[in-house]
Amino acid sequence: MIRFEHVTKHYTDDDRSVEDINLSVHAGEFVSIVGHSGAGKTTLIRLLLGEIKPTAGNIWFDDFDVDALKRSQLPMYRRRIGVVFQDFRLLNNRTAFENVAFAMEAAGRSDDEIVADVPHALELVGLTHKARSFPQEMSGGERQRLAIARAIINQPEVILADEPTGNLDPDSTREVIEILKKINDLGTTVILTTHNKSVVDGLGKRVVTLSKGRLVKDAAVGRYHHHETEE
Ligand SMILES: Nc1ncnc2c1ncn2[C@@H]1O[C@H](COP(=O)(O)OP(=O)(O)O)[C@@H](O)[C@H]1O
Ligand SMILES: [Mg+2]
Repeated sequence: MIRFEHVTKHYTDDDRSVEDINLSVHAGEFVSIVGHSGAGKTTLIRLLLGEIKPTAGNIWFDDFDVDALKRSQLPMYRRRIGVVFQDFRLLNNRTAFENVAFAMEAAGRSDDEIVADVPHALELVGLTHKARSFPQEMSGGERQRLAIARAIINQPEVILADEPTGNLDPDSTREVIEILKKINDLGTTVILTTHNKSVVDGLGKRVVTLSKGRLVKDAAVGRYHHHETEE
């Protein structure tokens, strides 16, 4: 489904942010990408989104060469991908319901569909009781679960979650990871980045380790060992 072929990204002449990455992710997988701060995790996510271009190499999403997508094709392409960020990026002047509805409006979905679908997404992330709340009235964990509801509402094929638990306490972190597992069980591919060992310990899923821009380990059932990424 997703394939990085010899992908290199140098933001400047002397930086080596991402160096010769080869990585395939199949439909339905749950892949964690771990590594220290600055290892290149966010750069990989942004390359996959087509936000930045590789210095060398190719990125494939099904039969699309992401780098070759025209500007006019990008919105359609990005609709196939749901994104979750560390800092939530919610609309603070809109309720939980409206935050999710807004993503459906942007995708051209009808009011009938919105009324039918949003409650299901809020239920999936355990926020039915918060539908009328504004983000400021919600905890960090609740805000991130809302961001996940928004990310999945248009039924993307893959969810990219870039350090989604970076601002959360351990209980909220567990809840967010459980929801990502549930979404994966329902058939959506999940790519999760984190620098936090405990997040991927116990997941029992594939773990890819980056260090200084290089892929140094790809374990089918991984554990994230601190010494492998902090050199
Ligand atoms: N826009 C940018 N311009 C220049 N260097 C960047 C930019 N974004 C990231 N980098 C550099 O690329 C490297 C990888 O960063 P990043 O992908 O954000 O790592 P991570 O998400 O693993 O913390 C770092 O050395 C960072 O300083
Ligand atoms: Mg990052």
